Amino acid sequence: MRKLIGVLVVATLFAAGWAGSGYSGQDEQPRVRPNSSHQFRKFMQRKLLHTQGVLEGLVNEDYDAIVKNAQAVNLLTMEESWNVLQTEAYQQQSDEFRRIADDLTKAGRNHDLEDATLEYLSLTMKCIKCHKMMRGIRLAQKTTF
Ligand code: HEC
Repeated sequence: MRKLIGVLVVATLFAAGWAGSGYSGQDEQPRVRPNSSHQFRKFMQRKLLHTQGVLEGLVNEDYDAIVKNAQAVNLLTMEESWNVLQTEAYQQQSDEFRRIADDLTKAGRNHDLEDATLEYLSLTMKCIKCHKMMRGIRLAQKTTF
């Protein structure tokens, strides 16, 4: 268990560092976006809250929390606000993300801590990948979402 927490901490730090490094140059981008309404940002931030809920579930070996939060993440992807872009690339990222959230839910239901941990790591890598893609698009189009 202690080893597992160590892996999680390292992975989370790694993910945070990676995400952080991508922020350089962010300041040159316009800050106002059509979708930056309070409601929309709250919707998007729920992903973060539920992902943190999964992590909490994992470290406490609380399978109910893992399943509940993984399902919540999955449900968010079904909502209209999720479909920010109607492109194939965005759709593909969304589909993969949803599939991982699904597998994470299953691993939680099966009380498989190791599998759930790996799915959690895949999920967070997807967060970062899609956000990186969005930044790339923003830079290319010099526009905001
Ligand atoms: C399929 C693409 C995609 C995936 C996967 C994704 N996001 Fe997002 N996320 C977006 C988009 C699009 C926005 C809103 C526009 C923007 O900020 O670029 C957003 C916004 C957010 C915001 C709000 C930022 C703000 O302005 O307040 C948070 C927090 C967030 N996402 C967290 C996450 C987390 C955590 C995950 C993984 C569990 C995740 N996202 C996975 C596309 C994605």
